[in-house]
Amino acid sequence: MTRWGVTVLDRLHLDGHERVLDAGCGSGRVTEHLCQRLPRGRVIALDLSSAMLVEARRRLASYANRVSFVRTSLAHPLPLAPVDAVFSTATFHWIRDHEALFSNLAAVLHPGGQLVAQCGGAGNIARVHAAARAAGVDLDPTHFATPAEMQQRLEAAGFIDVQCWLQPEPTTLAPGEPFETYLRTVCLRPHLEQLPEQDRQPFLREVMRQLGEPVIDYVRLNLHARRGAVR
Ligand SMILES: C[S@@+](CC[C@H](N)C(=O)[O-])C[C@H]1O[C@@H](n2cnc3c(N)ncnc32)[C@H](O)[C@@H]1O
Repeated sequence: MTRWGVTVLDRLHLDGHERVLDAGCGSGRVTEHLCQRLPRGRVIALDLSSAMLVEARRRLASYANRVSFVRTSLAHPLPLAPVDAVFSTATFHWIRDHEALFSNLAAVLHPGGQLVAQCGGAGNIARVHAAARAAGVDLDPTHFATPAEMQQRLEAAGFIDVQCWLQPEPTTLAPGEPFETYLRTVCLRPHLEQLPEQDRQPFLREVMRQLGEPVIDYVRLNLHARRGAVR
């Protein structure tokens, strides 16, 4: 996922002095590459999770003079001075209210400023959802948007020159225990956390049995846009 993030970062046009928001920085793995692209600039590393920010702060210690950390939700108006660009990877699909999300991002982005992002898109981990369904659980796939849906949401928030496209990234994991750990800690974590302790392992095992091949059918949705003139 860090590799995907770095590829997305390559699409951000930077001279090196800009002020850039990393929206959903997580543990800062991709943010570190962003810091390297901004030797005279500034990074705002924002995340909802304090635990993630603790890790990001540790990872980015050598860039401390040009990184600030903000703990808040992207679903709320952002307490930030304007930025030249917004960058985000693997985060937007976690936020249900995209109308609020994009309006909050537009509000802190200078007119003409870039939004370059990637998140899960339509069809993402459909095999895992099908396996969970066969194991008796309906996971909600509706938050993985299509390019057309995302384009409409971005334009409604005042973005222009919008480009959205899907990128299939099927990923094969090591079978057995590593695959089980990955499913438990990444793909199925939100659902498992809601199950009674004694039901978790049987559900996980059944999903693995249904899946067979240790392949996660990731589909990424790329977003590229600019903030239009303030209306
Ligand atoms: C999979 S991680 C991605 C981290 C990093 N961007 C990367 O690509 O490695 C998703 C991050 O989104 C954050 N997140 C989820 N909902 C959020 C919200 N409403 N506001 C801000 N961050 C959020 C999570 O805390 C998590 O750190």
